[in-house]
Amino acid sequence: MKSSGHLEFDKEFPNLKKGIIKVILEVANQACIKRIAIVGGVLRDKLILDLHKQPLKNFQDLDLVIEGSPEKFARVLSEKLGTCRVNIKKINAAYQTVELTIDNLLIDIARARTEKYSKPAENPSIFPCSIEEDLYRRDFTINSIALDLRTFELLDPYKGSNAIKNRIITFIHSGSAAEDPTRIFRAARYASRLDFEMTPESIRQIKSTITSWPWDWTFSQTPESAPPGLSTRLRMEIELLMKQDKWQTAIQNLQNWQALLLLDKDLQNDNNWKRRIHWAFRLGVSPFSAFISKASSPAFLASRLQLPLNEQHLLIEAQKIIKHFQILEFSGKTKDWGPYEWCNEIEPNKWNKQAILIAICSGISLWQPLFRWWGKWSRIKSKTNAKDLLANGWEAGPAIGRELKRLREIEIRNYQNKKQTSDN
Ligand code: CTP
Repeated sequence: MKSSGHLEFDKEFPNLKKGIIKVILEVANQACIKRIAIVGGVLRDKLILDLHKQPLKNFQDLDLVIEGSPEKFARVLSEKLGTCRVNIKKINAAYQTVELTIDNLLIDIARARTEKYSKPAENPSIFPCSIEEDLYRRDFTINSIALDLRTFELLDPYKGSNAIKNRIITFIHSGSAAEDPTRIFRAARYASRLDFEMTPESIRQIKSTITSWPWDWTFSQTPESAPPGLSTRLRMEIELLMKQDKWQTAIQNLQNWQALLLLDKDLQNDNNWKRRIHWAFRLGVSPFSAFISKASSPAFLASRLQLPLNEQHLLIEAQKIIKHFQILEFSGKTKDWGPYEWCNEIEPNKWNKQAILIAICSGISLWQPLFRWWGKWSRIKSKTNAKDLLANGWEAGPAIGRELKRLREIEIRNYQNKKQTSDN
């Protein structure tokens, strides 16, 4: 990083609006913020660009760490720049963080803090400290670099720039994975996205942590009692992982590190997750749900990860469908079935279509008729609609429904006959 002026600095971060750092620094001076630094993704990606000429992804947010009160700083920013430019979105008093936008640039401001975990995977308690001390609480050496905005000095006590140079990811300390198991998923995400390698020592930490299971919660307890690092925060990390292009490499990393055991033993031993997720993207259904649909108990896992309730219900329904089709396959009666029989089998259940799609993704043996039903047969309609029947003298009531059903069945039969003729 060049020790140049702030305007130059803006030039070095092409994604930052010109002059924004200067403005932030001026307001920090007025708000008497003792020290202020850039930290995290923006800085890491900038160093990667410098060292490897690897293009930056468009960053989502700028992380600032300050020695002072983020809330007060946010208020002064808003007073000085005006509410047209500054929009305070979230204040977290407990963690002393503020999320705001300046000219639509998302900025996370955190008070420099150390963290103490009462129990591994719980949310930590925080204690104000210096920026240098704050860097120790972070996940990997590549993310524990700060750029002091007043002195323009690079604070890099854990040699994160060296790790970037050597394209490696390594935990800051030996208790990192135990304290916050979501970091294991973060490691997989960064390794795949940045094309970096996790160090053998850090992989050992992951494996030994999972084997020793230092968390109070176990699979025999209720899903609701799981600590945040094994529930909501873990879900958020998986969601981020699924959103990135290289999700496949990331999940493969996790499986190689035995880390899918954090979710479920069947997922760790499962070889079909790629197919399921590919299909989920193709069919426009949640890749997350498709991924966990092969857990030993998807409902338990979904509840533990606190997926939205509708997603949980879909997974439960998908399991019902899968079971239904397994029994059907076992009965052997479907061998000569065509669209008419399949429609009669599927439709009375009134299953949710998204749940059907998850069942298709899960790779049940009878996925093809289910897929054809979804893609074609369910869309066959009778040529006459209720309006036509009423115009033809039918009286409003259930009889119309029955007639429309009968007419649709005729269309399905016609389709079936045409198909058989063209196949022969
Ligand atoms: N962090 C951490 N442990 C976590 C989450 C975050 O130590 N479980 C720290 C890291 O230092 C990280 C910073 O908080 O760099 C900000 O986290 P986040 O916004 O999730 O990541 P970015 O650094 O912005 O990186 P990216 O958005 O590229 O993933």
